[in-house]
Amino acid sequence: MTKIKFFSDNSDLEEKTVLLRLDLNVPIKNKIIQDDTRIAENLPFIKNLIKRKAKIIIISHLGRPKGKKVSELSLAPIYKYLKKELTSAVYFFMGDLDNEIKKKFSYQKGGEIILLENIRFFKEETEDDEIFSKKLASLCDIYINDAFSCCHRKQASIHNIAKFVKQSYAGPLINREITSIDLITKNKKKPVSCIIGGSKVSTKINVITSLIKIVDNLIIVGAMANNFLTFKKYKIGSSLVEKNIDETVSKIYEIAKNENCNLIIPEDCKVGADFLGSGENKNFENIKNYEMILDIGPKTIEKIHNIIDDSNTILWNGPAGYFENDNFLEGTLSIAKKISENTKKKSLISILGGGDTISAINKNKNKLSFTHLSTAGGAFLEYLEGKDLPGLTVLK
Ligand code: 3PG
Repeated sequence: MTKIKFFSDNSDLEEKTVLLRLDLNVPIKNKIIQDDTRIAENLPFIKNLIKRKAKIIIISHLGRPKGKKVSELSLAPIYKYLKKELTSAVYFFMGDLDNEIKKKFSYQKGGEIILLENIRFFKEETEDDEIFSKKLASLCDIYINDAFSCCHRKQASIHNIAKFVKQSYAGPLINREITSIDLITKNKKKPVSCIIGGSKVSTKINVITSLIKIVDNLIIVGAMANNFLTFKKYKIGSSLVEKNIDETVSKIYEIAKNENCNLIIPEDCKVGADFLGSGENKNFENIKNYEMILDIGPKTIEKIHNIIDDSNTILWNGPAGYFENDNFLEGTLSIAKKISENTKKKSLISILGGGDTISAINKNKNKLSFTHLSTAGGAFLEYLEGKDLPGLTVLK
């Protein structure tokens, strides 16, 4: 199998222009960054390039502006963040990427950064347009893609660009991400348990089906567990449930049986009358028609803790409950704390992924430790499924 070309730490970069594709797609509200995890992850590598006197051009997208300039999706808050965190000069380029662009950037000195405005303001980006990709490519000597979380997208600054820059590489974050996910799929230390949460089985059906074949325990939590509970004829009140999903759930049980994978669903829950309400622990038979399941209950938490204790590797993607309301955060946080404790004390290998999982963990005030916290959502799942990601394939 052809290998991905990784950027080497020894290459001479002085005065060379490095075009760095990052994923700085962070939540921003009223121009204020709500969670800087994705930017902070990239700072060490940016600093490394600055030290080596490279001329750095950073490209990222933010949200889905559909080829139009949308002021709420400007990278301006990220530009301010970078200016504050980095000692070298940082410029923000909001102009057109026309034929004069190279000339316009000629002021840049080694060790300085130009951040381009949201690349998805150009419709050619999501179209993976060749002429646009060539134009981006013409700006640099070296192209480095370190946006693992975008590698499942066939878009100009992720995919076609690499065809037009001879020296195209994957960066250190991509290296860490795939090495970590390979600890689940290839180089695993058994028993391996996987906790999958979130709201819809239908969006994670492929990854669930792939995981069943390689893990020993698969624990289903979050709103997606409601589909399994309904299938098993438990009462779920007015909880979210997907339509016509029984056949899918039945198939998942069948594959689990054939593959000898232990499929675990919640045994009790915490309910609320609505998303903003307070919570009450309940067994399923006592759920009232108007109540919704919004978290796992104490018996389920204990069961999951025991499985974590018996595992050498854990993969976790998707929260256990409606963590946005602190009344329903307990299940998610107690799983996070237990995994963190065992990572520190019992050398558990723990790989966590998904934007919601990270946001939920960040609600904890204490420092938690994991082997790897992936910054990716969709790309994380697709890589786990064993799919070829266009952004990686083009770097082989
Ligand atoms: C993500 O948040 O998963 C990445 O930034 C990719 O964003 P997209 O789903 O809009 O392509």
